[in-house]
Amino acid sequence: MLRSAAPHTISVKDKRFAVSVPASRIGQEVRRVAGEIDRDYAGREPLFLAVLNGAFMFAADLLRLLSVPCRLSFVKLRSYRGLESRGEVSQLIGLGESIEGRDVIVVEDIVDTGLTMSRLLEGLRQMGPASLSVCTLLLKPGKLLHSVDISYCALRVPDDFVVGYGLDYEGLGRNYADIYSIIKE
Ligand code: IMP
Repeated sequence: MLRSAAPHTISVKDKRFAVSVPASRIGQEVRRVAGEIDRDYAGREPLFLAVLNGAFMFAADLLRLLSVPCRLSFVKLRSYRGLESRGEVSQLIGLGESIEGRDVIVVEDIVDTGLTMSRLLEGLRQMGPASLSVCTLLLKPGKLLHSVDISYCALRVPDDFVVGYGLDYEGLGRNYADIYSIIKE
């Protein structure tokens, strides 16, 4: 099948973005991470919890490169403002199976400040997994405010807002095979 060349710049809603990580580079790094997981989980049967919506493409590519026997579940974080609470609360939805005693690997699209991931890990820890680790497609080290132990990271990126390969800007842009960074105007 012929695939047309990816445009160097794209418009998503009212913003312009330029390619920052081409699909070929993403593929290389996802393959590297899959190799690390295969090595570390040899003889075990990890359960991947992929966080929707952003991690859908990464999870699909990662899992097809793995050899270790594994399970996959998609979860979602629903944010709402609790009536009693002043801050934003995230509730984990979609986890239809017990994680007690399992080797759990959380698959995320991006760790930015780390708040989402640290809250998610806190909740999962209380469910008694045998082990809990994090596998993220992207990490913005410059923005990390909450300490999160990240075992697997495909790519480190600058602080700029990105879309593509599952990541969105106001719901759009997830479909691109490359990752694009916002053009500041
Ligand atoms: P954190 O809680 O600040 O680490 O933010 C994590 C969440 O914010 C991710 O799961 C994404 O949904 C979203 N996010 C953070 N940075 C970006 C970005 O550059 N592009 C798209 N979504 C982002």
